[in-house]
Amino acid sequence: MCSRFPAGFLWGVSTAAHQVEGGNENNQWAAWEQAGRIKSGDRSGKACDWWNHAERDFDLAQEIGVNALRLSVEWSRIEPREGEYDWQALRRYRQMLEGLHQRGIQPMLCLHHFTHPLWFEERGAFLRRGAGERFEHFARLVVSELGDVCQHWVTFNEPNVYATLGYVLGEFPPGKRGRILEAVALVNALARAHTRAYHAIHAIQKQAEVGWAHNFVVFQPANPRSLLDRRVTRLVNELFNESFLRLIEQGKLAFPLTLVSGDLTEVKGACDFVGLNVYSRFHVAFDAGIAAQMFARVFVPPHVPQGDHGVEQPYGEAYPAAVRVAVERVARLGKPIYVLENGVPDAEDRIRPWLIVNVVQELDRLLRSGQDIRGYFHWTLTDNFEWSEGWKLRFGLVALDPETQQRTMRNSGRLFGAIARGNCISPEMIRQYLPAGVDSAPKSLIPSEPS
Ligand code: FCB
Repeated sequence: MCSRFPAGFLWGVSTAAHQVEGGNENNQWAAWEQAGRIKSGDRSGKACDWWNHAERDFDLAQEIGVNALRLSVEWSRIEPREGEYDWQALRRYRQMLEGLHQRGIQPMLCLHHFTHPLWFEERGAFLRRGAGERFEHFARLVVSELGDVCQHWVTFNEPNVYATLGYVLGEFPPGKRGRILEAVALVNALARAHTRAYHAIHAIQKQAEVGWAHNFVVFQPANPRSLLDRRVTRLVNELFNESFLRLIEQGKLAFPLTLVSGDLTEVKGACDFVGLNVYSRFHVAFDAGIAAQMFARVFVPPHVPQGDHGVEQPYGEAYPAAVRVAVERVARLGKPIYVLENGVPDAEDRIRPWLIVNVVQELDRLLRSGQDIRGYFHWTLTDNFEWSEGWKLRFGLVALDPETQQRTMRNSGRLFGAIARGNCISPEMIRQYLPAGVDSAPKSLIPSEPS
């Protein structure tokens, strides 16, 4: 018997402006690309050419059968110079949102998905005084202009990833390393800016649903019997998974981080839903040689299911149970939950079908146990520009050749479509894609032991 999902459950795909639009040249990521900081040496270029032809991919989303799509607006297009607005750009976004509705697809709009205008970056971005007001202003403009065609808003995508990759690991602009205190300050500033936008959106649109997208990673001590491994794992978990969450849940960080964060009680409760971006599990070992990373060596062990390798390191373990761990944690906030991203880099579509069926099975179990999950959005619709990995990692349900712009539906696109259209997962899918049972991966997906 088919296991049915609640009526109105959102089956969606997620995208982000800079990764799909093409021709974005006025944000800090464009500058980062021009400076040669993409590990693969690639540029986003035309990306998926959405600025001209998003509708081509909307048609594909409709063909797959999803009923929701998450996209983001590019601040640098809407406000190319401080205080100057491009109404044409806002009209293009309106056209896109209307195009989605016409295809029976509900949009969810993110206001900041890692990129912002160069003028804003050059002034010190969110760490500068007054940045929260600027962001609020931008949020007001977007919601006033587009609120009649959109009701679901994501303020920020992954404050914790932006802070960690931008200030601790140096892989995102501004490319700083080991600046833990600045990373914490950024998370606080983003929480404040989020709260401003949250109230501003509600003041304009009473029925708005506003949240943020939280990246949640499962961290596991490399050696569970080692006290030091357990300690650094806790620290990494606290900083990465817990910080922004705690601000929304309690209005303060855990001690001793409270000492640097000051009073953030205004942030408490500022969301209507929690968005979860969940991909991987990492192992964590104490390493006395890496003080800048708080002595934590975060790695992927070799014999776990994985998608394609990144330019310099593995992308991460494909770990479907991460969804369960993340949902059970954020349920403590007592808000509806949307899984807003989940996927795997997999050009050959070798492991993605297994991941999808496994995660959907997890969601089914979580719903049966009473969790308030409202939707699942797969990352992503069409292969796109994957930040510092460039075109190396392919996450799409649809394969894209960025040169020719030719698209080819992957098997997992058809599979996800069947789940979305039926609003259920069938026993045949489970038999076909989870032959080894839900909790273990088929041997063919696990890299073999080195001899
Ligand atoms: C998430 C990002 C998204 C994409 C996926 C693979 O962390 O939000 O833009 O890069 O990872």
